[in-house]
Amino acid sequence: MPRVTFLPDDVSAEVAEGDTILDASKACGAPEGDACGGNCACSTCHVHVLEGIENLSEMQDDEADRLDMAFDVRPSSRLGCQARLVGKGDVVVEITQESRDAYYNEHPTERRAG
Ligand code: FES
Repeated sequence: MPRVTFLPDDVSAEVAEGDTILDASKACGAPEGDACGGNCACSTCHVHVLEGIENLSEMQDDEADRLDMAFDVRPSSRLGCQARLVGKGDVVVEITQESRDAYYNEHPTERRAG
């Protein structure tokens, strides 16, 4: 099964093909926001893909439109709730500051590691 690793926390999870990056973050407790519940209606699940972008589903128009409203958008940007694992290869992502801030706002009792 493909493994998704989340930086800077360096936590990871193995997920099934077809699962999303957001599914993987929930599986390992990585602090990735999901204010809209994974419905491509916010940008709080924004990550930068550092390795394995070829192992993710192609970006659709609704994801691209939503990313236009995010901060610090780069060629490696994806929405974690929209990017699905399509192969057996591993993926490494960095959770954006925007996403981390959203996560800790949604989970105020969790201790912020960085
Ligand atoms: S959780 Fe809102 S767009 Fe991904």
